[in-house]
Amino acid sequence: METVIYPGSFDPVTYGHIDIIKRAAAIFDDLTVCILTNKAKKSLFTVEERMSMLEEVVKDLGNVRITSHEGLLVDCAKDMNAQVIVRGLRAVTDFEYELQMAQTNRIISDANIDTMFLNTDLKYAYLSSSTVKEVASFGGDISKFVPDFVAELTYAKYK
Ligand code: PNS
Repeated sequence: METVIYPGSFDPVTYGHIDIIKRAAAIFDDLTVCILTNKAKKSLFTVEERMSMLEEVVKDLGNVRITSHEGLLVDCAKDMNAQVIVRGLRAVTDFEYELQMAQTNRIISDANIDTMFLNTDLKYAYLSSSTVKEVASFGGDISKFVPDFVAELTYAKYK
């Protein structure tokens, strides 16, 4: 069966990601959330830790699976037999980076993979994993940004 890929670093997964996962899972028959490396970011959680947080988050969604890939997103898409990548767009500031990534992925996949964007719910337009880590690192309240179990795991990293 063809799947659609929702890629990201998910370090850690936030309510913004969860909103995109739920909405994409309602639109597409099969959704694969793929954890990849963003070379521009230093990760707090291991891939295994991110994977298990995501597994917990999607446990009630029957058409969503979690995977990880060490290389290029387009190779992960090819392995999963996916032709569509889904990304969330928060604000115009995301647009240039996202468009560049989408264009690059289309070119290096010989036009076999397209990217579709879901606008992030306004509630989460400000939210990023980096913000979550910044607030948590100073002991601030991240309960509005991530599920409780993710908050606990994040605080534990800064103990
Ligand atoms: O959640 P993020 O950090 O915005 O996700 C970015 C991610 C991980 C999807 C991106 O960095 C990525 O695709 N990394 C894998 C390597 C790759 O394919 N890079 C080329 C894209 S232009």
